[in-house]
Amino acid sequence: MLNGKKNVLLAVTGSIAAYKAADIARGFIKKGYSVTVMLTANGAKFITPMTFETLTGSKCLVDTFDRNFKYEVEHIAAAKACDLLLVAPASANVIGKIAGGIADDMVTTTILAVTAPKLIAPAMNTAMYDNPIVQDNMKKLRAYGYQFIDPAEGLLACGDTGRGKLADVEDILSVSQGILENEEGTHENAEGVSRNAEGAPENAEGIPGNAEGIPENAGGISETAWDGGEQDYAGKTVVVTAGPTQEALDPVRYITNHSSGKMGYSLAEAAAKRGAEVVLISGPTAIKKPENENISFVPVVSASDMAEAVFTYFEKADILIMAAAVADYTPKTVADQKIKKADGGMTIELARTTDILGTLKDRKKEGQFICGFSMETENLIENSRKKLFKKNLDIIAANSIVDPGAGFGHDTNKVTIIARDGEESLPLISKAETADRILDAIIKRVK
Ligand code: CTP
Repeated sequence: MLNGKKNVLLAVTGSIAAYKAADIARGFIKKGYSVTVMLTANGAKFITPMTFETLTGSKCLVDTFDRNFKYEVEHIAAAKACDLLLVAPASANVIGKIAGGIADDMVTTTILAVTAPKLIAPAMNTAMYDNPIVQDNMKKLRAYGYQFIDPAEGLLACGDTGRGKLADVEDILSVSQGILENEEGTHENAEGVSRNAEGAPENAEGIPGNAEGIPENAGGISETAWDGGEQDYAGKTVVVTAGPTQEALDPVRYITNHSSGKMGYSLAEAAAKRGAEVVLISGPTAIKKPENENISFVPVVSASDMAEAVFTYFEKADILIMAAAVADYTPKTVADQKIKKADGGMTIELARTTDILGTLKDRKKEGQFICGFSMETENLIENSRKKLFKKNLDIIAANSIVDPGAGFGHDTNKVTIIARDGEESLPLISKAETADRILDAIIKRVK
């Protein structure tokens, strides 16, 4: 806290996206937080300390050995005073340094001393971002409790097109706010969040213990040290469904929904990274087919195609994750030719599709694990819990559709994981991060 306000320590590193950090700083100020900005020497080549000093009203920290300081040991004081550390944009270099425990300037020494929640928003060229070294560094940091907000896809400063653009400023602000306002997860809450040996909050996401006796860190970020990339899904076959389905009316028209497929694809990628053999059954989406050799891609169109594919691949699956938004109804008849308009209105007769999870309930073999999804506009937890029991699921991920930044199309999500032995509310975090947390919750319950 600084002057009674929650304090964001914003670290800006050497990336062309550094100019967007000014909007981020301003966004926090508008929301009523205090902001302290740190710049790496390379960051200072893209944007000046004065910009941030004007916006935040406080000194921008650049040089560790600056004698014109307010505090005894400035980097330690800045680390102690923050409720959230945000690195945005985070270059591959700085991510590598943090992962390697290197502290050779103001930004990296301070980060090493921060015990508050830490959020990193990478921005770099696609090939750099996809480089396994960078990916491994991020995985390592995740294991230590760092959270990430994934970069977006688009035209990059270098002229390439792909993933690597700094995430949308509004998304960065809402994820940060979610962490700052998630009381147990903040630095200076009433109970005080304890820290483990690695410096990650023991209850890194601020998940309270609950009546069912779920441990405070249940399904949370692993407290174990970095082991070179956890392969806790090795030997498991995971079937993931994603995206919407399209229910044809005639050769031109169809009925569908707003599902983007992002959550399902994130789950498939995360499970493959953790060592699983993944079958991704996807309805039509705009997402590029995953290139990971451990993911078999099965494209489908309609709810009945999806049912057929799931019934086939479920036979050999250890785990099924039904993230797809399967249509509940389909036109009773599909016209061979385009339906021509006539005067007056039109009525389409719909028939129920096969309830895939409802059918699997009786086919599930001993040891098979099923995770369903649910999206509701009201009574999210109550309705989702009913579905868990009705469809004989082991776990259900309940999606908020009303929270800003959550649900269809966003890169972020706010999910409550409901299991038979308790529930766990995740904060607003990236879909990739959500995927890992769902996989954590699944693997610890798989027999
Ligand atoms: N699902 C399915 N087969 C369908 C429709 C949905 O297996 N034909 C799966 C979804 O993939 C999701 C879960 O069921 O995992 C959602 O449960 P469902 O009861 O279909 O939810 P809603 O459609 O939201 O239920 P309701 O319409 O009753 O609110």
